[in-house]
Amino acid sequence: MQQEKATTMNHDTILAEAEAFAREALTGESSGHDWWHIARVRALARTIAAAERADTFVCELAALLHDIADPKIAGDWESGLARVRDWLVAHDVPTAEREHILDIIASISFAGGSKPAPKTLEGRVVQDADRLDAIGAIGIARAFAYGGVHGRILYDPAVAPREAMTAEEYRSQMTPTINHFYEKLLLLKDRMNTNYARQLAEQRHRVMQAFLDEFYAEWDGSR
Ligand code: ADP
Ligand code: NI
Repeated sequence: MQQEKATTMNHDTILAEAEAFAREALTGESSGHDWWHIARVRALARTIAAAERADTFVCELAALLHDIADPKIAGDWESGLARVRDWLVAHDVPTAEREHILDIIASISFAGGSKPAPKTLEGRVVQDADRLDAIGAIGIARAFAYGGVHGRILYDPAVAPREAMTAEEYRSQMTPTINHFYEKLLLLKDRMNTNYARQLAEQRHRVMQAFLDEFYAEWDGSR
């Protein structure tokens, strides 16, 4: 009993320190991975983990650390993952949990193509949480924020969405932001790994569809 309590406290301390680490590393990040993205993914990961009976500690910790290794922030994957590994070692996270978390972080990134779903339930939960934050009202806001930072126009009826693209094309081409809905955001609902996330995705998907309907009606001057 006592031991259980000590472990719980330890988990809370580690999570609080991971939060401080992520806040410091990502505050002011403007590519769509700012600290508040991490805070939302963590909250979603916790909710989904509870519903799916996954290990909430592993899910929350992986969510908090998931973007620190991203090449957009760390420069390259190898040094990014090494940074997260060093942090986990310094905070005495047990080896099995440490390797699990590193494995989750390495497997959840989406870059234009499709990778196999993460191997563990916890990995699937964190990936769902990260993907949910790209859709719905928040997803719409993030898409236009990204478009602004990258100098993209809102919409151009003459530019059709791309159906297949390389990771390089996905990042570099100057396509209008509305196209991103067809190239990624509207596809995410059917890519959820867990039942609970699928339910959350339904509502977020409807919000995006309603937004697009309204957008085109206003574009044409019909509303
Ligand atoms: P990740 O897939 O690792 O979360 P991205 O940089 O692809 O990272 O996405 C970060 C945010 O920016 C997401 O909300 C995503 O939908 C948005 N985003 C990415 N590419 C585009 C784009 N071409 N146009 C609009 N939004 C984008
Ligand atoms: Ni993310």
